[in-house]
Amino acid sequence: MKVLVTGGLGYIGSHTVVELQQEGHEVVIIDNLSNSSIEVLDGITKITGIQPEFEELDLRDNFELKDFFKHHQDIDGVIHFAASKAVGESVEKPLFYYQNNVSTLINLLQELQKQKQQNFIFSSSCTVYGEADKMPITENAPIKLAQSPYGNTKQIGEEILRDTTKINNDLKVTALRYFNPIGAHSSAHIGELPQGVPQNLVPYITQTAIGLREQLSVFGNDYPTEDGTCIRDYIHVVDVAKAHVVALERLIKHQQTSNFEVFNIGTGKGSSVIEVIEAFERVSNQKLNYKVVERRAGDVTSAYADTIKANNILGWTSSLTLDEAMRDAWQWEKKIRKNN
Ligand code: NAD
Ligand code: UFG
Repeated sequence: MKVLVTGGLGYIGSHTVVELQQEGHEVVIIDNLSNSSIEVLDGITKITGIQPEFEELDLRDNFELKDFFKHHQDIDGVIHFAASKAVGESVEKPLFYYQNNVSTLINLLQELQKQKQQNFIFSSSCTVYGEADKMPITENAPIKLAQSPYGNTKQIGEEILRDTTKINNDLKVTALRYFNPIGAHSSAHIGELPQGVPQNLVPYITQTAIGLREQLSVFGNDYPTEDGTCIRDYIHVVDVAKAHVVALERLIKHQQTSNFEVFNIGTGKGSSVIEVIEAFERVSNQKLNYKVVERRAGDVTSAYADTIKANNILGWTSSLTLDEAMRDAWQWEKKIRKNN
């Protein structure tokens, strides 16, 4: 199949492009390079031996997008990663987030609706569940009031897609709600490239260990969990990438049971911040400099996935461990620092 991957030079997008190519699919990437670098194309090519087609294009630009589809009428499916994703920044720049995450989705759907094949995978997030009442979180858990404009763009995105599938029977949508993707490709040719000071735990850990940051702050150890730190469902990015390939193949084979479906993409296992640090120390063979500080505003105590629906219906299960993810994140950090 020929797949359009928007945001395909970004973190999860680039790993997905690799998995698609390795399954024999043809890929065309759209990215405006706002949070990625053109060198990612080389990384992908080094792994797969195939350079994917790339169009530098901003999805906010309707005119260019129309032109793109005019020249690409043979696309079998779209995986839509392109969006901005910094929770804190979204509070500062709500209008930018609604434009870059919501209007771009509308632009894309308007063009896609003119195509013969309308198979669509949407990047959603476990953030839609907020502070869930029950663990593990199933897809039926209630959607809570969004804690940030970023989180709201994911809720609105899902609603737009659900409403559109109701009136357009040709449109088939799968929304994947990722938990916490971490790690990098085991080849260390592609990985996460956070801009500025990382907000997320794993890049903060690896940047501290490499000497770029002095010390990791652990945000609170007075949560009602075993060691007092928050619990998340950390999943290797390659497992996340594979879920996209399976989900899109399923739509193309008309195996969906409804035109709008959602799936949790996690491991089903929760790990505390301290457990993540311990996993890092194990695989890197070094101690991490960290201290416990105040809680971070907006953090939920615990969030991990019930993955039964994805396991049974998509036929997908995560297979890589936390230690493997931390090993690959560390390999990647060492590689990018050496190159710089
Ligand atoms: P990323 O920033 O690494 O990748 C997004 C890519 O989209 C970047 O390459 C960026 O340049 C591109 N892009 C942004 N705006 C664009 C536009 N207007 N036109 C064209 N390209 C544009 O992010 P990621 O971590 O790979 O996340 C991918 C998707 O998954 C996003 O939608 C994100 O919200 C979602 N998500 C990510 C996580 C996570 O922890 N990384 C968790 C849940 C959901
Ligand atoms: N943490 C630290 N120190 C840090 C960074 C994080 O202790 O320097 C802790 C956090 O308090 C949290 C855990 O590590 O307990 C994970 O934090 P991340 O920022 O890595 O991940 P979150 O679960 O907070 O964020 C993720 C996605 C967001 C999404 C959010 C919704 O990255 O895109 O889930 O809950 F919006």
